[in-house]
Amino acid sequence: MTPTPQTEARSAPSTTTGEDRGARRPIGIGLIGFGWLGQAHTRSMQRIRTLFGEREFDPVLKHVSDTVPARLDEATGSFGYERGSADWRRVVDEPDVEVVVIAAPNALHVEMIEAAAQAGKHIFCEKPVGGTPAETARAERAARRAGVITGVGYNYRWAPLVRHAGELLAEGRLGRITNYRGRFFSMYGSDPLGLLSWRFRLDEGGHGVTTDLMSHSVDLAHMLVGPIVRVVGTTETFIRERPLPAPGAGGHYGRGLPDDPTGEVTNEDYAGMLCEFENGACGSFEAARTLLGPESQMAFDVYGTGGALGWDLERMNELRAYLATDDRTSGYTTVLGGERFPYHGRFVPGSANGIGFEDLIVIEDYEFCRSVAEERSHTPGFAEALDWVAVQAALLRSVETGRWEDVVSLREGT
Ligand SMILES: NC(=O)c1ccc[n+]([C@@H]2O[C@H](COP(=O)([O-])OP(=O)(O)OC[C@H]3O[C@@H](n4cnc5c(N)ncnc54)[C@H](O)[C@@H]3O)[C@@H](O)[C@H]2O)c1
Repeated sequence: MTPTPQTEARSAPSTTTGEDRGARRPIGIGLIGFGWLGQAHTRSMQRIRTLFGEREFDPVLKHVSDTVPARLDEATGSFGYERGSADWRRVVDEPDVEVVVIAAPNALHVEMIEAAAQAGKHIFCEKPVGGTPAETARAERAARRAGVITGVGYNYRWAPLVRHAGELLAEGRLGRITNYRGRFFSMYGSDPLGLLSWRFRLDEGGHGVTTDLMSHSVDLAHMLVGPIVRVVGTTETFIRERPLPAPGAGGHYGRGLPDDPTGEVTNEDYAGMLCEFENGACGSFEAARTLLGPESQMAFDVYGTGGALGWDLERMNELRAYLATDDRTSGYTTVLGGERFPYHGRFVPGSANGIGFEDLIVIEDYEFCRSVAEERSHTPGFAEALDWVAVQAALLRSVETGRWEDVVSLREGT
């Protein structure tokens, strides 16, 4: 694994209305799990037509699956899917579905991926692909054996200012990288009345914040700085009981009442990790879901002998940059997002007119469909998902042993 080259062309002006390229190849989309991210991917597939005029394909919404009937009604009635069903296997079996997008709870991913791969479908799966390292390894193997194109929802890779940071790093503008600090501090579990959704249960969500949040942080570090070779870490669960959701209700941010029946939280609320990168840099990562203060701090700082960069989702249209060219003007500059950075101008022209979370999903869906249309492998795909779970497995071993643990590839043989 090497840091991904940052090769995207600069954005076309946002006034792009679409060049007439004649007939575009349709890509039939099937989607499983019409919750938060399933709906976000659906809107994104629709917006691709209005934002990427040079595309040579058109995503077409074919079949959607969810186990909640009201969501299916919304998906077909308002979002434009041609068909919907409670049984996700129907999506995988449809001849006119070329791409299966999986946005169901993590523990269901691997079975869906194996079935989709066997049916020869290209697969975009939400991160982290399965809920445990073993499940991710199984999923990667199934897709690799079937020869299908895979994508994974590490959407922060696509943020225009993160791409710009990647370009500066690839150009060597920060000199030798000495240390990296990644964190994902989310508020979603900070209220003890927050519902015991699938994310808090080992059997449905897999591991806790390592699977849900640290996966994003380390994936970004892999892209920006390169592979991690050894780690030491700790985990903790701070809120051990939560109100049970009513069947079919209560999303990610749902709240219960003080007298509601409760159930046990069976995965971790917090994880901390020190690491060493292959290139000699040192790193530290933290992920937490029960703290107060930070609300969605998916953030990194990277430091080198020639400067430093910092980015935070809470201020996603700002990059803090210090490039050490003049020691009389040391200190960070705030670089504001704008159309001079990759993709930004697709959404809004000029500078300092901000973009948002779902815009990153549009970029990732566009790039995945482009890989499918061009019949080439895609990054980030299941190989990159596997890179993270190798680190996660080493972290979980370290929590058990209390010692540094080497990162070992989990790639299974054919
Ligand atoms: N990339 C990101 O920033 C990001 C953010 C949030 C979630 N995610 C990922 O997206 C995935 C979904 O998370 P979410 O927050 O959208 O969850 P969610 O709970 O909002 O949605 C999941 C949906 O799956 C449906 N479902 C459950 N079992 C099903 C089955 N057997 N068949 C079909 N549908 C089924 C549920 O009814 C629900 O509508 C997870 O893998 C999560 O890690 C990624």
